Amino acid sequence: MTGRPPELDALIAEYHPGLAMPRGFYTSQAIYDHDIVRVWNRNWLWAGHESQIPEAGDYVLLDYGSESIIIVRDRDGGVRAHLNICRHRGSRICTEAEGTARVFACPYHAWTFELTGELRAGRAMGPDFDPSRWGLFPVRVTLFQGLIFVCCDADTPALEPALAQLAPLTAPYGLDRLKVAHKASYPVPANWKLAVENYLECYHCGPAHQEYSRSHSLKSPKEMAELVGPLAARAAAAGLSSEMLDLTGAAAPTPFTGAYLRRYPLYPGYDTGSRDGAPLAPLLGDLKGYDGGATDMGIGPLNWFLVYSDHLVGYRFLPRDVQQTDIEVVWMVHADAEEGRDYDREALTWLWHVTSQDDERIIRHNQAGVNSAYFQPGPLSEMEGWVGDFYNFYLRMIGPDPEFRKAANG
Ligand code: FES
Ligand code: FE
Repeated sequence: MTGRPPELDALIAEYHPGLAMPRGFYTSQAIYDHDIVRVWNRNWLWAGHESQIPEAGDYVLLDYGSESIIIVRDRDGGVRAHLNICRHRGSRICTEAEGTARVFACPYHAWTFELTGELRAGRAMGPDFDPSRWGLFPVRVTLFQGLIFVCCDADTPALEPALAQLAPLTAPYGLDRLKVAHKASYPVPANWKLAVENYLECYHCGPAHQEYSRSHSLKSPKEMAELVGPLAARAAAAGLSSEMLDLTGAAAPTPFTGAYLRRYPLYPGYDTGSRDGAPLAPLLGDLKGYDGGATDMGIGPLNWFLVYSDHLVGYRFLPRDVQQTDIEVVWMVHADAEEGRDYDREALTWLWHVTSQDDERIIRHNQAGVNSAYFQPGPLSEMEGWVGDFYNFYLRMIGPDPEFRKAANG
């Protein structure tokens, strides 16, 4: 656990609603360490999809900051998560990003743990040693239509109330019948908050994302409003509800564990997020056609997905160091789709590959400017409302502890 950074109160006092956040939030090692403990360890994080761990013993790791979590399929078919810390002297137990294990054997002195996390044996520990006291630390798991979320903190409110509202809206997409088609990581030398902020606004889309802007109307609120009518009709024909969900704002019942779903139009001629507008893969789930839209889905404040009629793109922004973040992008398609026959990987990933490269560049330059001694926080635009919401969320997470605990649990 880290203590309260000495500069925290002064930085919070320096922040003015409506302006960007002060420099120290993006440059201080102590603030970064505090962020991991207070924001990352206390929020639900997207760890993957059940299709990545189909058999008993299959596991993936979720690493961020100084933390590492093992997500594993147990012998009863359930999904469990454990902290990747040996209870002997603390070694990492799994060192590969994914794999299959019969048991988890620590590479240091070979303590072995069951898939359930129980310690099975430790050599030469004497007659009084009680293995039942030294199991792996459990991490909470929530499953949503195949998507896996984990949370280290016992007091963080459950995701389920928000997910119960989201479930009927996403059901037609058959998210439980997806598979990973491609994963890519875009390391950016910037604080994780700049990467998240960049994802939360499309003020930059017009100037920075030529390819995205050719097909997606989000960067132009006026054009978007004109196209919403036809989109609703196509969505209904495809079997999608046009209902939206927003449980994420400051006034939402569960701002830390809310969900968000909003569909916005692609330009005429575009069925999906492809280079030429043509379909990229078989339709997802039970869809009867292309809706001609892109659906933004958020689950908790840190997990974002973009769902098209024929694929899903998932995002996470994993902190590696105070000014180092991995933008991880995961492309998913229908579980039955076969590469080469049903989709072309290069075509499928083209848009969000070029767009993520753009984002890496602009986030990197953003951090470089913020690092200057002369940087002063400037005013947010009308198109950066979510950035302001993110600041509110962030400041509540890192603020005085009792207040947050009350707010989160109340
Ligand atoms: Fe794992 Fe010693 S640290 S067995
Ligand atoms: Fe962008």
